[in-house]
Amino acid sequence: MDGELPGPVTALFPDAQLIERVEDWLTRELAAASARAARGPVMPTLDRAQLQRELAAFDFESPRSLEPLLAWTIAQLEHGVVHLNNPRYFGLFNPAPNFPAQCADRIAGAFNPQLASSGSSPAPVAIEAHVIGAIAQRAGLPSGAGGHFTTSGSEANCTALICALTRADPRFGTLGVRAFNGPVAFYSSHECQPAWFKIAHQCGVGRAALRLIDVDAQGRMDADALAETLRRDRREGIVPVLISATAGTTGAGMIDPLRRCAAIAHEHGVWYHVDAAWGGAALCSQRLRGLLAGIELADSITIDAHKWFATTMGCGMFITPHRTVLSEAFRVSADFMPSTLESVDPYLNSVQWSRRFMGLRLFLSLAAAGWDGYGAHVERALAVIERARERLVGRGWSAVNDSQLAVLCVLPPPGFPPPREIVRRLLADGRAWAAVTTFAGREVVRICVTHGQSALADVEALVEGLNAAGGPGG
Ligand SMILES: Cc1ncc(COP(=O)(O)O)c(C=O)c1O
Repeated sequence: MDGELPGPVTALFPDAQLIERVEDWLTRELAAASARAARGPVMPTLDRAQLQRELAAFDFESPRSLEPLLAWTIAQLEHGVVHLNNPRYFGLFNPAPNFPAQCADRIAGAFNPQLASSGSSPAPVAIEAHVIGAIAQRAGLPSGAGGHFTTSGSEANCTALICALTRADPRFGTLGVRAFNGPVAFYSSHECQPAWFKIAHQCGVGRAALRLIDVDAQGRMDADALAETLRRDRREGIVPVLISATAGTTGAGMIDPLRRCAAIAHEHGVWYHVDAAWGGAALCSQRLRGLLAGIELADSITIDAHKWFATTMGCGMFITPHRTVLSEAFRVSADFMPSTLESVDPYLNSVQWSRRFMGLRLFLSLAAAGWDGYGAHVERALAVIERARERLVGRGWSAVNDSQLAVLCVLPPPGFPPPREIVRRLLADGRAWAAVTTFAGREVVRICVTHGQSALADVEALVEGLNAAGGPGG
């Protein structure tokens, strides 16, 4: 007892000695489990029925001691996830997390700063704003551009639509879509990330508001079709509010014609957004940043640090030169908040209220690697994907996309089963991970380099795995 008060609950707030012991143990255990995961099968090996039985025993009636609980949890993750930190995961855009970002999570977890306002977290808010400013500058946006960290690319894209609606009619904030004289529409290509449908739903414009524009044979938005669709919609009384070009499509890593899309948006007075959730990291490379020419014309940009920047999960960015639109869209008054700086406080400029110190992950990674370090990371992925392309083409596969980024879509040689079956067998075998997707109307095997340490032996394992999965007895 502490005077008249009951003592703290030691299971939640143990003494410093125990914390130190458990943290040391955790550090070693995590390193060992990660090393095993990097060498072992990419796919989960968990017995799900057993997990359900063990979960059922957690009735939370009698407390358990922490150390066995941590050991149990690490075992569930070691056996119960697709291992992004396995260098044979040639996967979706999910990376092996870099080390500075993991350190950032530990620091943020220890201090648990509340980033809603600069009043409660002056240092973290300033650090995040500094990183966003640096990325905006790297993208070539006008000076003074800003924005904020988001939990995801989807949240950043959603923010773009909210800003577009807010700018299109200042009455939107009060009246919602009733502010407009006709149905609202926004535009992206058939290859856009499908979360845009959920965003349309969330924003109240309805899923039908998303106009999917045709793509060319390489999966890039057809700018002529875009222009024609906008003209036709306008004639029919529809109100276009936003064009979203994708810089690094999810399926095939293609880049829409950014400058032409910008010109069309400008001509029609609609918000121009570039979804560079994955491809945005190419800005770090002197050799590759030119591929994103036109991004500097954007009214807003989405970039996910938890994709090609390889931070831990939940580190998106929304970047815009129109900071006043953000302040308009997310304005609120709350006299209990420790500060009310209109253009600074995250709770006055973004979707979230309470927020984690997400941006520390990119701050530490970028500061540790520098632009050149990240440029080398991105260029390395291209070298690895090029090797995969050579090796597969040499074994009779054909490459069907022409991405200048690190995604390769391939078709198997004649006589092999369809891509979906090959991928199913590959994953069942577990030696490497690739995806199946549809590109240019055909099912393809999709390979993406997402691990910063994938080596030639890993490429070889993938190629062998795909051939074994496609060959007789595969
Ligand atoms: C181009 C693109 N935009 C947006 C997203 C959605 O990002 P998130 O998964 O962070 O919500 C993705 C996800 O892969 C993507 O590829």
